Amino acid sequence: MALLTGSNKINIAVFISGTGSNLKSLIKFSKLKKSPIIIKMIISNNYKAKGLQYANIYKIKKKVFNFKNILSEKKVINELKKNDIHLICLAGFMKILSKSFIKNFKGKILNIHPSLLPKYKGLNTHERAIRNKDKYSGCTVHFVNSRLDSGEIINQKKVRIKKLDTPKILAKKILIQEHKLYPAAIMKIFSL
Ligand code: GAR
Repeated sequence: MALLTGSNKINIAVFISGTGSNLKSLIKFSKLKKSPIIIKMIISNNYKAKGLQYANIYKIKKKVFNFKNILSEKKVINELKKNDIHLICLAGFMKILSKSFIKNFKGKILNIHPSLLPKYKGLNTHERAIRNKDKYSGCTVHFVNSRLDSGEIINQKKVRIKKLDTPKILAKKILIQEHKLYPAAIMKIFSL
């Protein structure tokens, strides 16, 4: 997948809906010399998203759109094109993008999901893994296609589920791994 030409870094946009801890880890990663990305924009569907604070802290452009219809998505696409964005990283972005949006950025949208896909697509992944008495859960970075949490998997990290783990404890343990997995996934796709 030739997203990168020569030694140029590519402009990416990170989409968030909430806390933005994955965004923060991607910002830190983007500042490394070896990193192939520049985070040019942070986009959210939620103007109250805590993660938007990182736009102010790290002086990154931020925009909020409601993503409620095709018209709003068109505005997002225009903004992304205007800013020369070549890769979108969904990081705790809780809206489902339309087929036509995904088509516009075919093969150029990544998502991080808190389960070992294809297990537990969708919501409440930790509750479901614990309820099913799974020994492991984890996280996955994958390309986004038009089916929910079903695109090609880039990398995964297993996390052991301990007897006393609650969904909250497990979520915390997995999140720590997510912060390493997303940068590793980006390094991987640029080395392909
Ligand atoms: C992360 O656990 C991420 O995998 C998950 O939301 C959390 C966001 O945390 N994403 C999804 O569930 C997407 N379906 P963050 O805002 O601190 O990065």
